[in-house]
Amino acid sequence: MAGLEIVVEGLTKSFGSQTIWADVTLTLPPGEVSVLLGPSGTGKSVFLKSLIGLLTPERGSILIGGTDIVRCTSAELYEVRKLFGVLFQDGALFGSMNLFDNTAFPLREHTKKSESEIRRVVMEKLELVGLLGAELKLPGEISGGMRKRAGLARALVLDPQILLVDEPDSGLDPVRTTYISQLLIDINAQIDATVLIVSHNINLARTVPDNIGMLFRRELVMFGPREVLLTSDEPVVKQFLNGTMIGPIGMSEEKDEAQMIHEQAMVDAGHHHGGVDHVEGIIPQLRPTPGMPIRQAVARRQERVRAMMRSLPLSAQTAIIDSLAELDEPAHSGDEPSGSPQAVRI
Ligand SMILES: Nc1ncnc2c1ncn2[C@@H]1O[C@H](COP(=O)(O)OP(=O)(O)O)[C@@H](O)[C@H]1O
Ligand SMILES: [Mg+2]
Repeated sequence: MAGLEIVVEGLTKSFGSQTIWADVTLTLPPGEVSVLLGPSGTGKSVFLKSLIGLLTPERGSILIGGTDIVRCTSAELYEVRKLFGVLFQDGALFGSMNLFDNTAFPLREHTKKSESEIRRVVMEKLELVGLLGAELKLPGEISGGMRKRAGLARALVLDPQILLVDEPDSGLDPVRTTYISQLLIDINAQIDATVLIVSHNINLARTVPDNIGMLFRRELVMFGPREVLLTSDEPVVKQFLNGTMIGPIGMSEEKDEAQMIHEQAMVDAGHHHGGVDHVEGIIPQLRPTPGMPIRQAVARRQERVRAMMRSLPLSAQTAIIDSLAELDEPAHSGDEPSGSPQAVRI
């Protein structure tokens, strides 16, 4: 079953007098993987919690399978929540339960499955995330990366149509971050769920999603096919993707205009470039591990992006045409031996 579309319109969330973000509008296409980027404190976690109705925005709507969860009854919300799997930032595992019981928890809470059926599902999900053999370990006995994977296994036991993942890379080294990135793509290939990942990890954003959005200064700066943000000339986007100090994002919050003009002058004069090596353009999106099913989202996305091409900036169009051309190459047209990577860039 393909994942569900999520349509967010004009969404605004405040705590008291503090507006976290305002007028956020975006559509998460069914079965595709999207990443929401943003510096720390821009309200990414608040957005994720709003999507499952743990927080209630003051204005706007969130349509999921025809239900506006901002306004629905608690009984309706309860039904909609069953469609979700969520991996919270801290993993939210129960410290006193081993990985088997942690993973089994939603099944025991929400279904009437027998223990033998529960065992089958739990072992299947633990295998999916590479934790077979670790089921008797306690969360405190395993690494951060394993805790993330256990949290993912638990998020998957109810066969979600929507998977929300908050900072899957937090606390992980770059190698473990790549492993979890690959795992998220493999999971998407296997269950075709709509996936939203909230993160400030640049490498993950460059390699995992079909679509990317970015929160900054209390608004959604942009949201769309990955090629749009990855080729964007928007100063805040470029600064973020390159992790430099030059740009609107400051140490704690935003910089003032005078500071930005001074820094740009320093760069122009060749005094410093404010950060690590500049990366331009697009690196290929991760494909499912050989042997995995093809990502069904790929063909759907291809059609969707073709239809919207003309409305996109030229740099994004060029990047999309490049990846479509690769898609049309005969080498990708079918008779590859099974087990070879089958998914394509777009
Ligand atoms: N339940 C809450 N009550 C009041 N303020 C909150 C609550 N949750 C988050 N915030 C505030 O919302 C802002 C955004 O937080 P968060 O979504 O955690 O940022 P991010 O995940 O992007 O780092 C922060 O200033 C935080 O203090
Ligand atoms: Mg957060």
